[in-house]
Amino acid sequence: MSDVKHAVVAVTGVTGALGGRVAPRLAGRGVPLLLVGRRPERMPELPGAQRRGPAAYGDAAAMRAALAGASTLVLVSGHRTGRRLEEHATAVEAAAEVGVERVLYVSLVGASPVATYVNARDQWATEQFLAGSGIRHTVLRAGIYTSTPAALADEAFVVSGPAHTGRAAFVTHDDIADVITAVALDDGPRSSYDGSVLEITGPEALTLGEAVARIAAATGRPYRFVSETLEEAFARRWRTGMSGEQIETWISWYQAIERDEVSVVTDVVSRLTGRPATPVSHAAWWPAPNTARGVPGPGI
Ligand SMILES: NC(=O)c1ccc[n+]([C@@H]2O[C@H](COP(=O)([O-])OP(=O)(O)OC[C@H]3O[C@@H](n4cnc5c(N)ncnc54)[C@H](OP(=O)(O)O)[C@@H]3O)[C@@H](O)[C@H]2O)c1
Repeated sequence: MSDVKHAVVAVTGVTGALGGRVAPRLAGRGVPLLLVGRRPERMPELPGAQRRGPAAYGDAAAMRAALAGASTLVLVSGHRTGRRLEEHATAVEAAAEVGVERVLYVSLVGASPVATYVNARDQWATEQFLAGSGIRHTVLRAGIYTSTPAALADEAFVVSGPAHTGRAAFVTHDDIADVITAVALDDGPRSSYDGSVLEITGPEALTLGEAVARIAAATGRPYRFVSETLEEAFARRWRTGMSGEQIETWISWYQAIERDEVSVVTDVVSRLTGRPATPVSHAAWWPAPNTARGVPGPGI
C-alpha cells in the first residue's frame, strides 16, 4: 500500500477474469475503488472498495448511480449481445454525466470495421464512439487471450478449428491487467496515455498448433490442435448444438488468426510494466476445457 493519494477509479467486469484481476491490483496500490456490475453479490471484497450495482452497461440510470464519485472508469467490454455499441455508449455517457473524467476502455487487437473476427468489429464501433465523445480516454486493445484455446478444448482436450499457418500473439490476463493498472495509476490531470491506443500482446506470434502444444506442456494435459476445413468446422459445430450466431463468431475467431489479423507483437507489456510479456508456457492460469463462452458446456 502506498501513501500517494489517488482519485477514485470505477472498475467494471470485476466478476470476470480480467476486471477481477485489475481491481485487486489497484486496491493493492491504495486506489479507492467503485466495483460496478450486474452482480454485486459476486464481487470480491477488497480494501477501500465499494460494491455498486446491480448496473448493466445498457441501463443509464443504474450506471449513473453506480459511477457517481469516480474520476476514472476502467470499462471492460461486455459480452456479445448484438447491442454492444449501445451498451458501451450508454455506460460512457452515464459516466460523463456524473463527472467521470476519463475512460480506459478495454478493446481488442485487430479492432476494425472490416475485421474478420466479428467481435473486433463491435470493438471498433465503441472505439469510434469514444473518440468522438469528447471524454479523455485511452483504448487498451487486448490481444487474444492465452487462456482461450484451453477453454475451447473439448473433454478430450482437443481444440479444432479452421486455422493452419496463421498466428496470434496470445497474451495472458495477468499481463493485460498489469498494463491497465499502470495506465490507471497515471492519474494526474493529464495522462501521457490520453488519446492513445495501446495494443497489449504476448511476446511472440504462434500458430494455434504451437500454442496448444505449449499449453499441453505447461499443464501436463494432452491438449492437441486439429485443423479443419471451413466446411468441416461449420458442419461439426452445427452438430454440437451451437446457434448459428455462435458458430459464426467462433469460426471468425479462428479465421482472424489464420489471416494474421491478431499476430502483431508489441512492446506495450514490457514498456508499461518493466518486465517482459509472459510466454504461453509460463501462464499462471488455465481454464477447464469446454468453458469458453458460447461453446457447448458450462460456459464462463
Ligand atoms: N481478448 C480476448 O481474447 C477476449 C476473449 C474473450 C472476451 N473478450 C472480451 O473481454 C471482456 C473481458 O474478458 P474476461 O475474460 O474478463 O471475460 P469474463 O470473465 O466473461 O468477464 C466479463 C465481465 O464483464 C461483465 N459484463 C458483461 N456484459 C456486461 C454488461 N452488459 N453490463 C455489465 N457488465 C457486463 C460480466 O459481468 P456478469 O458477472 O454480470 O456477467 C463479467 O464481470 C469480455 O467481456 C469480452 O468483451 C476478449
